[in-house]
Amino acid sequence: MSKDLRLGVNIDHVATLRNARGTAYPDPVRAALLAQRAGADGITAHLREDRRHIRDADMAALKEALAIPLNFEMAATAEMQKICLATAPHAVCLVPEKREEVTTEGGLDVAADAARLTDYVGALAEAGIRVSMFIGHDPRQIEASAAVGAAVIELHTGHYCDLHYEGRFDARDLELEALRAGAKLAASLGLEVHAGHGLTYETVAPVAAIPQIRELNIGHFLIGEAVFVGLDAALAQMRSHMDAARGRK
Ligand code: PXP
Repeated sequence: MSKDLRLGVNIDHVATLRNARGTAYPDPVRAALLAQRAGADGITAHLREDRRHIRDADMAALKEALAIPLNFEMAATAEMQKICLATAPHAVCLVPEKREEVTTEGGLDVAADAARLTDYVGALAEAGIRVSMFIGHDPRQIEASAAVGAAVIELHTGHYCDLHYEGRFDARDLELEALRAGAKLAASLGLEVHAGHGLTYETVAPVAAIPQIRELNIGHFLIGEAVFVGLDAALAQMRSHMDAARGRK
């Protein structure tokens, strides 16, 4: 039976740690297998243009090693499309990418690039890969995602999380309301709804409680927490927050 709210674990930052010393360890594939054993429903990895964390060989090794779905996060470039088609992951999440950013800062502007993205998404979908667009809650972007043929959107929760940690609770609640409206609109258009970016034990519950959301993708916080308690314990704790928010014990 498929779970009504899946937890996808992003293992990029195990590779960040590895690359900081130029060693062969810690191995992101080992982290992915540990997450799989600990009950993750999927693994996400972002192959960035600058290869700052995940590398091409990691993607191939993840695909080879995992029994659970691999979600290939990438920019919508010709280079990445080629690698993605060769890897044949379960899903792809298209994100905007800027060289100078620390992490994915905003959502993809699907509306501004709709003609090109229609072809781009079509080629991936034809290969049997589920395509997700990482976007903000702007209705224009949600409608454009449906129009270009995406099966899924992933709502960017980074701004909501930032507002929470800045203590700007009124603005945070407005942002949450917009995420709820976005999820509702997307589901009404037949899109599957995911969410992610910046989520922690403290911020996950209101997002997990949005009924249309089927999957959360969480990385940086879980990998950081794993340093202290281990990845399996961090995952279990995150899952219990998600289950509680969903009204399950
Ligand atoms: N989803 C997408 C599309 C992302 O770009 C990221 C960050 O790589 C995440 C989820 C996970 O965000 P975080 O690492 O902040 O949990």
